[in-house]
Amino acid sequence: MSQYDVLCIGNAIVDIIAQCDEAFLTDNGIIKGAMNLIDAERAELLYSRMGPAIEASGGSAGNTAAGIASFGGSAAYFGKVSRDHLGNIFTHDIHAQGVAFDTKPLDGTPPTARSMIFVTPDGERSMNTYLGACVELGPNDVEADKASGAKVTYFEGYLWDPPLAKEAIRLTASHAHAAGREVSMTLSDSFCVDRYRAEFLDLMRSGTIDIVFANSHEIKSLYETSSFDEALAQIRKDCKIAAVTRSEKGSVIVRGDETVVIKATEIRELVDTTGAGDLYAAGFLYGYTQGRSLKDCGDLGSLAAGLVIQQIGPRPRQNLKREAEQAGLL
Ligand SMILES: Nc1ncnc2c1ncn2[C@@H]1O[C@H](COP(=O)(O)OP(=O)(O)OP(=O)(O)O)[C@@H](O)[C@H]1O
Ligand SMILES: [Mg+2]
Repeated sequence: MSQYDVLCIGNAIVDIIAQCDEAFLTDNGIIKGAMNLIDAERAELLYSRMGPAIEASGGSAGNTAAGIASFGGSAAYFGKVSRDHLGNIFTHDIHAQGVAFDTKPLDGTPPTARSMIFVTPDGERSMNTYLGACVELGPNDVEADKASGAKVTYFEGYLWDPPLAKEAIRLTASHAHAAGREVSMTLSDSFCVDRYRAEFLDLMRSGTIDIVFANSHEIKSLYETSSFDEALAQIRKDCKIAAVTRSEKGSVIVRGDETVVIKATEIRELVDTTGAGDLYAAGFLYGYTQGRSLKDCGDLGSLAAGLVIQQIGPRPRQNLKREAEQAGLL
């Protein structure tokens, strides 16, 4: 008996979201579409220049955990917050969604991580992340029962930015594999791939990772090629399953010689792309841990991603199980 469908591990972050125009990004040296890492001082500066904002619990893997729970799956989460206001918000929201989250919070500094997310009129999000308490996530935070009790452990490539989290991942993965479970990661961001390319490839080639999620920029960065097809041919050899998202073109799932092409859903209005990749992973992993076909997993991913991009913030307000039932997917 599995205790959980999916254990998600990530940087525990509260998003601070505001709209801006294109000039704001260039004037402030923000790389569009990327996750820009910032220190406390720059966080203060950008916040002082930010327009009216809303706060919402985020963190890539946190969004995925919340999505899996919304589908009716059982999810657990490891991530480090501080015992402060933003930490309380993060903890409340993930618990309220029904995710098991018991990582011990930090007492005192650094404070809970936050990401200032600027959304341009085209719906693209540009993130500016101050990691705060996330730098303290380490192997002591690994709960062995959850690691060996989840059908799939899923973590963010973003965890290579703080110093100790990668040790937590290696330990969790060893518990998971010892229990016959599978391990999955998202490549997170093309600049993140650029920072840790050799380590990510080693995780895949050594068999630490079974299932990889990436968008088209990330796999091209991973294999240092401008050709999507070339990158796809390579990733087939380096992991058991790869699910590669292509924004409005949908996604492609490969498993050995098998290729499954998935359509994106029709959307009425693109509002904020934040969480698209995270919710795609939620739908996919929910389906996967229910034993569904790769086609069904991809369709569930498209459904959840298509909903989150039509609203502000990284977690869909709808109940995903009901949405999937109405769409005839469950
Ligand atoms: N314009 C769009 N129309 C319909 N679906 C979309 C659109 N953009 C994204 N999606 C859906 O979201 C999924 C993930 O999108 P994308 O490839 O942009 O991921 P991403 O770049 O990781 O997103 P994120 O902004 O969360 O990092 C796609 O496979 C698709 O199902
Ligand atoms: Mg992404």
